[in-house]
Amino acid sequence: MTEFIIQEKILQTFAHHIPKHLRSHEMVVITDNTVKKLYAQQVVNSLQQTGYTPTLVTFPAGEKYKTRETKAKIESTLLKKGLGRKTCIIAVGGGVVGDLAGFVAATYMRGIPYIQVPTTLLAMIDSSVGGKTGVNTPEGKNMVGAFWNPEAVIADVNCLETLSLEHQRNGWVEGFKIFAVADCQSFHRLLEHKNFPLDLIKRAIALKQDIVSHDPDEKHIRAALNFGHTIGHALEASTKFKMLHGFAVAYGILIESHLSLQRDLISQHEFNTIVEALKSRGFQGTVLKKHDLNLVLAYAKQDKKNQSQRIHCVMLDGIGHVYSHQDKLTHAVTEQAIREAWVCVSEELGHVR
Ligand SMILES: NC(=O)c1ccc[n+]([C@@H]2O[C@H](COP(=O)([O-])OP(=O)(O)OC[C@H]3O[C@@H](n4cnc5c(N)ncnc54)[C@H](O)[C@@H]3O)[C@@H](O)[C@H]2O)c1
Ligand SMILES: [Zn+2]
Repeated sequence: MTEFIIQEKILQTFAHHIPKHLRSHEMVVITDNTVKKLYAQQVVNSLQQTGYTPTLVTFPAGEKYKTRETKAKIESTLLKKGLGRKTCIIAVGGGVVGDLAGFVAATYMRGIPYIQVPTTLLAMIDSSVGGKTGVNTPEGKNMVGAFWNPEAVIADVNCLETLSLEHQRNGWVEGFKIFAVADCQSFHRLLEHKNFPLDLIKRAIALKQDIVSHDPDEKHIRAALNFGHTIGHALEASTKFKMLHGFAVAYGILIESHLSLQRDLISQHEFNTIVEALKSRGFQGTVLKKHDLNLVLAYAKQDKKNQSQRIHCVMLDGIGHVYSHQDKLTHAVTEQAIREAWVCVSEELGHVR
């Protein structure tokens, strides 16, 4: 089981939080060149002060470096150093570092332990939970990877102070999503805060951890996490990934909430609450006017959740609850219904059906 330690100012004493069974391992800190200066050096210092001689490996920041090539370079560095099975990788950074370093850990010497030290909000509440690791290929995002759980997730929420507003908002959406599908009370509490408070970060992690532990192979309940993601992914792809994932998911949530409203699964009041919450964070439905619905639909038709060539979405049947029908959490929707939702959301007509 992964151990989660989420606290303030934990990096200075990082080494003391390493799980006991890893304390005699060689330590390799993997990070990107932005996080290196901000936080990875602190982790290295703490390890050195405790008697370790860690190896620090960095690569340039950004999604475009989450590749097999970067993975191979890191592996060569570790091999040249003669590091063997008794090595522990420490991934310090956002989701890119976590996915890449986790994938190195999954295959180096047929699998070595690793620790996630997430430094973005998205990495804290989403990507470091659930054991998905991987890299992008020219054919698509996250196409090659493995399920490989970290031994521990050690997060210092003070890292969020240096995160850009854009990445704060990006991560916020995934937290908003998990509360929308799994916890009505936390959903409403989140809306009372400007930031994402520590106790709600812990709550979001616990909820995701609970969902994935019941469905490690992603066959059933984990599908709930895909709320907003059928349309979100399609919109993201239609912008050639220029739009950040969380932003695309925010608009996806608006559309998929409207699909839930169309079926009377959620009330007008609940729909309005979701619209207002996203609007207050700057996610206005009117943004969709700048995007090509036909292109979005074309991508949505390629979504891996689809069955019998029909687009499938996760829906809510209340805030904090996903709709389940015949034991399924994804439901076929017509193109017509998506078009109706798109018009209502982008024209802000959602409030009057
Ligand atoms: N494994 C999963 O289950 C899962 C889930 C969701 C997303 N992901 C993956 O996560 C990745 C996106 O993660 P991300 O949004 O964290 O992006 P990221 O790792 O690229 O980080 C965003 C930027 O912020 C910088 N940064 C990181 N921490 C910082 C800090 N504390 N202060 C200032 N700058 C900081 C990084 O250097 C980078 O430039 C994608 O590749 C996505 O596929 C994986
Ligand atoms: Zn997502």
